Amino acid sequence: MKKLSEEEARKRIEELREQINYHNYRYYVLNDPVISDEEYDELMRELKELETMFPHLITPDSPTQRVGAPPREEFGAVRHAMPMLSLEDARNPDELREFDRKIKRALSLPENAIIEYVAEPKYDGTSMEVVYEMGRFTRAATRGDGVVGEDVTPNARTIKTLPLRLIATDRWPIPSRIDVRGEVLMKKKDFEELNKERMERGESLFANPRNAAAGSLRQLDPNITARRKLDFVTWGVGLVEGVDFKTHWDVIDALKSYGFKTSFPVKLAKGIEEVIEYYLELQDKRDDFEYELDGIVVKVNSLELWERLGTTARSPRYAFAGKFKPRQKTTRLIDVIYQVGRTGIITPVAVLEPVEVGGVIVSRATLHNFDEVKRKGVMVGDYVLVQRAGDVIPEIVKPIPERRTGKEKPIEPPERCPVCGAETVREGAYYKCVNIACPAKLKGTLRHMSSRRALDIEGLGEKLSQLLVDRGLVKDPADLFYLRKEDLLSLPGFADKSAQNLIDQIERAKETSLSRFLYALGIPGVGEHTAKILARELGSLEELMNADSIRLLQIEGIGPETAQSIVKFFSEKRNREVIEKMLKSGFKIRSEKKKVTESPLVGKTVVFTGALKTMTRDEAQALVEELGGKASNSVSRKTDFVVVGENPGSKYQKALQLGVKILTEEEFLKLVGKA
Ligand code: IVH
Repeated sequence: MKKLSEEEARKRIEELREQINYHNYRYYVLNDPVISDEEYDELMRELKELETMFPHLITPDSPTQRVGAPPREEFGAVRHAMPMLSLEDARNPDELREFDRKIKRALSLPENAIIEYVAEPKYDGTSMEVVYEMGRFTRAATRGDGVVGEDVTPNARTIKTLPLRLIATDRWPIPSRIDVRGEVLMKKKDFEELNKERMERGESLFANPRNAAAGSLRQLDPNITARRKLDFVTWGVGLVEGVDFKTHWDVIDALKSYGFKTSFPVKLAKGIEEVIEYYLELQDKRDDFEYELDGIVVKVNSLELWERLGTTARSPRYAFAGKFKPRQKTTRLIDVIYQVGRTGIITPVAVLEPVEVGGVIVSRATLHNFDEVKRKGVMVGDYVLVQRAGDVIPEIVKPIPERRTGKEKPIEPPERCPVCGAETVREGAYYKCVNIACPAKLKGTLRHMSSRRALDIEGLGEKLSQLLVDRGLVKDPADLFYLRKEDLLSLPGFADKSAQNLIDQIERAKETSLSRFLYALGIPGVGEHTAKILARELGSLEELMNADSIRLLQIEGIGPETAQSIVKFFSEKRNREVIEKMLKSGFKIRSEKKKVTESPLVGKTVVFTGALKTMTRDEAQALVEELGGKASNSVSRKTDFVVVGENPGSKYQKALQLGVKILTEEEFLKLVGKA
């Protein structure tokens, strides 16, 4: 840090205090931080350093003089029997070694002395103290400002991993009183689940599992807390009466035996180098844990040494944290580009001012889709919170509206595909390119067209699609149907027989039903089911290509989004060209127009179970639908027929139970006139 005059220091200290107070308020009171933890720590660090250089400038109301935030008034206040301190941080192995040296100096031990430490994960949650009297849970409080916390007893009682009565053993009898401390946590998967539900309900999302845990614990209505999946993992004790612990290792052992969840994995380390080993290992594996970790905590094992080392006003000298590399940072969003995926989905991607996040330089982050953009309210030019977790693509957590200048611009969905210039259509939360021949999705289109439920060309997998495109043999999807044996023979892995095989398969695929053909086109919003509806209602490709949205909207099951997508799809010149080229290659498309009014299956629901002899399940279901019936996969009272093949499953039992009419395969064929 550069040397400051006293006057400059005074000014900077004031600035820092003001900023830190504001961020404390955002974090603790509003549960809505606007800077990353890393940036907050940086501000604190600078303030502490200045106050160390100019100690007479320290005032009792400086944020360095307290830990955490004052309790919210709605909760009752609880004074901790012993203050809940915070830890000093090391950010790398060297800083960990420095802490070790300091401890030895304080104990007047030689530099090469070996201290026994306990190293454990530092859980990224919210801390809580729970009081047990005669083995019974009596009170729970948040840390608050370290001296006074908030009474969250009814909320804590809903946490299933918090024992309401302690278990006594010979080794660890019940203490008359024990204040147990630990972290309230939400598992990463439960956090994601919760956010998903909140997104579906249009509620604001939690930024991370810690905010979710803290927000859930500090609910005025304990019923809400009860619905959230919270855990309590213990890491220490405050006041203890009636039991004597000699080491921290004892404490963990006792807590485990009383019935608490304790930190895992813990390591009893001989000397700091073993601690560092553990630190590096955990940092590497942090993604494998079900809870979010932000570092390790290192504690001198001997409690007698704790006494001798003592504490400073804010933190103990016998314990310290080793923080992992942070994975959230703020930076500026300078532009948005659009990426077209293999299925034609267009993803907005943020271009960022490069920033180091958790050891990796990040200059791009996904914005997922336009619903997300809208929900988060991000704009071009915004300062944003960026997050990286494991190997996943970095994402924008949220913008920081407080840092806006007024020059930010909204992020609009793309009207045209950035790769081919075709129009885009909306499908749910996504925008898609309508051009079936768009180079960005050619391989994907080939895969989709040849998939089992589309044209069913076995042997045309991922690899071959890639090869055909890369070698220039297929430049648009229709080229597939003009492939010759010679073309295939030029590719690795093809011999005369295998090449002929594929050619035969492609030829066979040209004889197909209208619904399969439509599904194969990959029209946004037209899945298998919709393709069937369209085929039955309109009867021919021509009808569909000429239908306007008014006609389409008359069809039951077709909504405005799908109608618009179909119209846009067929008004794209390139799509009409590809379709024409496909048809010219010799397609024979079976109409499935609904003409049946007299079939015995009109309006009936049919379920198949067991293996059929004369046809596949798919064929049987298609037959039912062709005859005006509905094929279903589960039996209910509304089922009209259950057709039973060989080795029928539970559906057969269910049919018997419900008294649904049961047919053998032969009886079914007779009924539909195919016997
Ligand atoms: S021991 C004197 N052990 O980190 C404080 N704390 O910065 C002793 N934390 O307030 C804390 N995991 O909320 C300890 N295994 C662990 C921890 C842990 C998470 C939190 C705790 C504490 C903060 C300290």
